[in-house]
Amino acid sequence: MTHLDVQDVTVRFGGVTAVNEATISADGGQVTALIGPNGAGKTTLFNVITGLQRPTAGRVLLDGNDITHTPTHRRARHGIARTFQRLEAFGSLTVEENIRVAADAIRSKNAKPARVTRDLIRKIGLERYAQARADAVPTGVARLVELARALAIDPTLLLLDEPSSGLSEAETEAFGDLLRDLAGQGRAVLIVEHDMPLIMRVSDRIHVLDRGILIASGTPAEVQADPTVRKAYLGEDEAPSSEPTLVMPAVEAIGEDEAEENPPALPESTGQEAEGWF
Ligand SMILES: Nc1ncnc2c1ncn2[C@@H]1O[C@H](COP(=O)(O)OP(=O)(O)OP(=O)(O)O)[C@@H](O)[C@H]1O
Ligand SMILES: [Mg+2]
Repeated sequence: MTHLDVQDVTVRFGGVTAVNEATISADGGQVTALIGPNGAGKTTLFNVITGLQRPTAGRVLLDGNDITHTPTHRRARHGIARTFQRLEAFGSLTVEENIRVAADAIRSKNAKPARVTRDLIRKIGLERYAQARADAVPTGVARLVELARALAIDPTLLLLDEPSSGLSEAETEAFGDLLRDLAGQGRAVLIVEHDMPLIMRVSDRIHVLDRGILIASGTPAEVQADPTVRKAYLGEDEAPSSEPTLVMPAVEAIGEDEAEENPPALPESTGQEAEGWF
């Protein structure tokens, strides 16, 4: 099964060290979470894994092969797909076309693009929106469109950057089940998410970044009990003696995705993502 290794990755933007010697991994059959406060470097690390950001130092290995310098579109062909924190659906295309374009670009050995598209619309529950333009659907739905588009290449490694923001409680519940289902199919699911109850429910392993530095890795229970993590989220000097309370306070502490308050118009394709990121 797929195995992703991110080894000692550093990303500097001028004087800002966004990611500082971070080492994380993700395995097929598991949901792995990458969490941390705003600005911790989570999206930057996703960009390194997917080839949109060259690391200043460090390596990315997929199934033991060094892909640090592999172009984005070739990583997609090796089975890596992602969604974006700031939506990158093709706004002028319908929901169905957004998915179809990916199914067409990387044809599966076993299934026809029209069939792949139809099945995904049903599986992700997008029937109601299939013929709507992607820039006319609610933010939460647009995130599911990106998920369906990513799944259209039948990825072995799926990266999701804050996929649940904009979903209702019931939708988030169903979404959690879907994540478990995707991992159950043998995929490696790597998810950045601020919804702590969701993360604690669906994750097998959690990596915690704070100001670019990996401060903890472990099971949900281990991470919740980790004093360093609690300090990063809650600003506590010491872990209190009571039961861990990371789950609820953390959600408030790190706030909501800005995009939710001001849903952006979906950008037109730049062509860059059309090449590799479906
Ligand atoms: N292209 C860039 N140029 C300069 N600085 C950047 C760039 N991209 C990210 N940064 C900075 O790197 C740091 C990490 O940003 P990143 O977006 O990776 O954080 P994040 O963990 O995804 O945060 P959030 O939870 O808010 O999405 C921040 O200080 C950010 O301002
Ligand atoms: Mg981010």
